[in-house]
Amino acid sequence: MKVAVFSAKRYDRHSLLTVNKSYGHELKFLEARLTHQTAELADGFPAVCLFINDQADRKVLHQLSDVGTKVIALRCAGYNNVDLHAAAELGLTVVRVPAYSPYAVAEHAVGLVLMLNRKLYRAYNRVREDNFSLDGLLGFDLHKTTVGVVGTGKIGQCFAQIMRGFGCHLLGYDLYPNPESEALGVNYVELDDLFAQSDIISLHCPLLPSTHHIVNEAAIAKMKPGVMLINTSRGGLVDTRAVIEGIKSGQIGYFGTDVYEEEADLFFEDWSDQVIKDDTFQLLQSFSNVVITAHQAFFTQNALEAIAHTTLSNLADFELGRPIKNQVTP
Ligand code: NAI
Repeated sequence: MKVAVFSAKRYDRHSLLTVNKSYGHELKFLEARLTHQTAELADGFPAVCLFINDQADRKVLHQLSDVGTKVIALRCAGYNNVDLHAAAELGLTVVRVPAYSPYAVAEHAVGLVLMLNRKLYRAYNRVREDNFSLDGLLGFDLHKTTVGVVGTGKIGQCFAQIMRGFGCHLLGYDLYPNPESEALGVNYVELDDLFAQSDIISLHCPLLPSTHHIVNEAAIAKMKPGVMLINTSRGGLVDTRAVIEGIKSGQIGYFGTDVYEEEADLFFEDWSDQVIKDDTFQLLQSFSNVVITAHQAFFTQNALEAIAHTTLSNLADFELGRPIKNQVTP
């Protein structure tokens, strides 16, 4: 079917075109992010393919519906950027890629833990400048530390499994504790207890109204002084200003994040020759105990290939009237 692929980068083209040889969809790649200013580019396309920061709010969905869009294929797992109620009212089908590589995201989260703990970012730069001093690089053994996993679904469980390999004690919090995680040694506790007892806290739950700012000023106050906080899930889980205050007071000792509340205007683009006007982001990245990556946790070859397969298969299911496995409804 005819598909307008928004926010298409070189790597998206490559993976989608390679896999599309088995599907034969007519793909039109658009660099533009979907917003109400760009929605008309979908004119004539019954399908649009969107990524994390494409904006499919009520207004945009009306515009898409007006130009003939029937199906929205998300090439990601999270769907917080789509107004599902509006989509249902307009008769738009929404499909997503529920799982592509939980390992990719979990391994990146572990990468942030190691990078922050052993200050690898500082060590790398120092050695390149012939500075072989160890001052300021002191880390701690992960062995026997307590790691709290918020959301023990596919990614949280992989993360827990890797951290178990380091010899960590595992705490978990989830609305639906799962026996596989318990078998791994995850001890489920209340969220406040996880906050109070963990040396490292990693967020792996979806962004929902109920999880928005799950890490806020009150939550940070309950944490162990000097805690390490890792977020590879969604920026909105964390109140960035509260985290900044926590870092300034020393309550948060390390912050590693792959996501940012206001990332839509920043991430996936090269702003290196411009002035970034987001003061909060600039302040956050000025701290020596903060590591930010730009939503790259998913970004492995394996994940891109799996995303392309599921996305194009979802579109084929819709086109051929087959049962749609990966539909998202309100
Ligand atoms: P999943 O659906 O397998 O697991 C999510 C878990 O969170 C479930 O066990 C669910 O019960 C739990 N949960 C839901 N509400 C909760 C709450 N209020 N408190 C605690 N737990 C709650 O999802 P998966 O695949 O593990 O992905 C998790 C998140 O990771 C996604 O929602 C997405 O936001 C993020 N993600 C980030 C990527 C990146 O590149 N940085 C890539 C892919 C996903």
